[in-house]
Amino acid sequence: MIEVCSLNDLPENEIVKKEIENHSIILIKKNEKIYAVENLCSHMSYPLDDGELEDFEIECLYHAARFDIRDGSAKCLPATEPIKTYETQIKNNKVFIEIT
Ligand code: FES
Repeated sequence: MIEVCSLNDLPENEIVKKEIENHSIILIKKNEKIYAVENLCSHMSYPLDDGELEDFEIECLYHAARFDIRDGSAKCLPATEPIKTYETQIKNNKVFIEIT
């Protein structure tokens, strides 16, 4: 796993974009848990970090597809394919991510 940042660097319920080993990744802290998804909409490959977060769903700014940040599943059209999610861990107040 790769160390990404300190847990305190991530504000609660905000979309934070990080470049990690040539991957553009969105990190979201919710209730002391970290969710990580690829910063790439499965509809037309626009970035998702311009979008809005509501509860556990991120909405793409471009055509309003929504994805669940817990499993990457597409929740509404025009997206039909999921987005990639990454495993995360918190150890000693640091955030780690598994890049696969
Ligand atoms: S690029 Fe995201 S909904 Fe179209």
